[in-house]
Amino acid sequence: KYLQEYDISEECKELLTTLPSEKGWITKHLYQYQGFWFAPKGLQGALSCQKHFQALDTDILLVTSPKSGTTWLKALSFALINRNKYPNIHSNSNHPLLTTNPHNLVPFWETGLYYNKDFVPDLKTISPPRIFSTHLSYESLPKSVKDSTCKVVYLCRDPKDVFVSFWHFINKLKTKSSETLSLEEAFESFCRGVCPFGPFWEHVLGYWKKSLESSKKVMFLKYEEMKMKPYFYLKEIAKFLECPFSQEEESKGVVDGILNLCSFDKLSNLEVNKTEKVSFNVENKYFFRLGQIGDWKNHLTTEMIEHINSITKQKLANHGLSF
Ligand code: A3P
Repeated sequence: KYLQEYDISEECKELLTTLPSEKGWITKHLYQYQGFWFAPKGLQGALSCQKHFQALDTDILLVTSPKSGTTWLKALSFALINRNKYPNIHSNSNHPLLTTNPHNLVPFWETGLYYNKDFVPDLKTISPPRIFSTHLSYESLPKSVKDSTCKVVYLCRDPKDVFVSFWHFINKLKTKSSETLSLEEAFESFCRGVCPFGPFWEHVLGYWKKSLESSKKVMFLKYEEMKMKPYFYLKEIAKFLECPFSQEEESKGVVDGILNLCSFDKLSNLEVNKTEKVSFNVENKYFFRLGQIGDWKNHLTTEMIEHINSITKQKLANHGLSF
């Protein structure tokens, strides 16, 4: 009966009644579809996107688990791809990133473009290369993404920091009417894989395997490595997207210019990111908290750390992945 609360299609409601469900993080319930957990409207967005999205070979798709650095990756990719349109990054006061949140420059599929029922966006008018973003698992990507030569950039992060970042984020999103989820309860649920777009580990693994199989299709990045060597990784992303920096650009400081423009300090202090909203209940500032590696040390007990580390080891170590 509570499904009536959601503005979703009858088709989606019917499907939801057949899926396994668990207590949600932001919405009352999460539903498991194709192995991953969705909020009702997120699932509708995913279904609509799977049905309608038509990839172009020139498309760029940015993929993350929530709280893995999506905002940063969006900003970097937008500035990189549009660097000829907005040159002189050091002095350019007209750069869209100065007045628009990265989520409004690079739209999400399931929680953005395809979020509203009965509405299919017309994406044909966007001039290529088009950049989109999603939290969908590799398995759940629209078929045309897999059939085309479009590029997928995947960014992941230490699950301990992902969890802590997520925990703070959901607390900001909470409305007066939503139930509370204690840190311990959320942690237990995250570790079982039950969180929006989780399980985290399977999400990472799907893209990791694909990047090993097909390194031209999927680039696999880690937040921690990008924080430590941003210059190197921005150049790698540019190469992967087949728009490498020229010697001249490097010597003119274009790489540094993009990194500065997209840095946590720069973006989080912009008026647009301090005061405006992405949607009715999500403020731009929620996407900027600390932007550091290792805040989990301030939030998790020794027991929690051992537990989550052992899951990561058990699920990822055999595949040559660690955090
Ligand atoms: P913390 O909560 O640990 O600070 P997402 O963009 O996927 O929602 O992830 C949000 C996390 O990325 C938050 O982490 C946020 O502070 C951090 N972040 C946002 N912008 C960033 C930037 N420009 N550089 C580095 N980290 C950034």
